[in-house]
Amino acid sequence: EHAVIFDTDPGVDDALALLYLHRHRDVELAGITTVFGNAPIELTTRNALFLAERWGIAAPVARGAGECFDTRRPAGRFPTFIHGENGLGDIDVAAPARAPDPRPAHRFIADTLRARPGAITLVAVGRLTNLALALREAPEIAGLARGVVVMGGVFAGPGNVTPAAEANIHGDPEAADLVFGADWPVTIVGLDATVPVVMTRARLDALAQTGGEAARLVRDLSQDYIRFYETRIPDGMVVHDATACVALTDPALFRTRRGAVRVACEGLAAGMTIQKPDGTVFPPSAWDDRPSQTVCLGVEAEGVLSAIERTI
Ligand code: BDR
Ligand code: CA
Repeated sequence: EHAVIFDTDPGVDDALALLYLHRHRDVELAGITTVFGNAPIELTTRNALFLAERWGIAAPVARGAGECFDTRRPAGRFPTFIHGENGLGDIDVAAPARAPDPRPAHRFIADTLRARPGAITLVAVGRLTNLALALREAPEIAGLARGVVVMGGVFAGPGNVTPAAEANIHGDPEAADLVFGADWPVTIVGLDATVPVVMTRARLDALAQTGGEAARLVRDLSQDYIRFYETRIPDGMVVHDATACVALTDPALFRTRRGAVRVACEGLAAGMTIQKPDGTVFPPSAWDDRPSQTVCLGVEAEGVLSAIERTI
């Protein structure tokens, strides 16, 4: 049984991930927190509320950061060519009747961790801004989380926004460096483990047949995203965020390595994630005195896809 706060920027692959968590019998969704990324914060929050309402998800939705942890860093451009102008593949998104939780996301996270010490796993599939804000305001929460699963980064490369960097980390590198350096167990599911997980059009259509109205919505909002991926892969779409959720429920499908992780924040390699594997020896370096975290280096892609299909 996993009690989860899902931190997300819906986001096409975020929507599939949310449906996976909602439908998984061992997952209790304790909250949804939103962050800017695939679209501005107004839209990612509205999209989260819309999906929660459509799918009957009762968990509170708390609106999070609309700018980077270091507010001098510009928000950057939104990837409308991947997730559409509205963040959900430009399907019609009805105005949600539900209002967000009155607290900002980082306070919702801290309150929930304090209320349920040792019980909550944070699953973060956007920029890590909310988690970093929560750590800055309430550093003791690191000791209260059961764990943190992050979709972000890349270790063997290449990245997807620059040759060095993946989008969620590149979009707020200072936040990611803080989150990976905090004393809580982090599992990092980067491109090395997500890019192999491709859902073909045929599989997505089959899921829409068997998964009910919610799965049909996922298929419909994924069409532009698939057209983007079809300029890069022969058929289908990479399901980054759902893969990170499967790393929570089915960790045996992933090949991992332990070690301290840092994020380059400036220069040519900004947003690059670099691990010092446990047992390697260097002169004093910026990786010293940081906790060992778990990095996913490989994946059984077919196992992940069938977990998603089975669950949804
Ligand atoms: C990540 O970036 C976002 O666009 C996706 O939703 C995913 O979380 C992939 O790099
Ligand atoms: Ca995302």
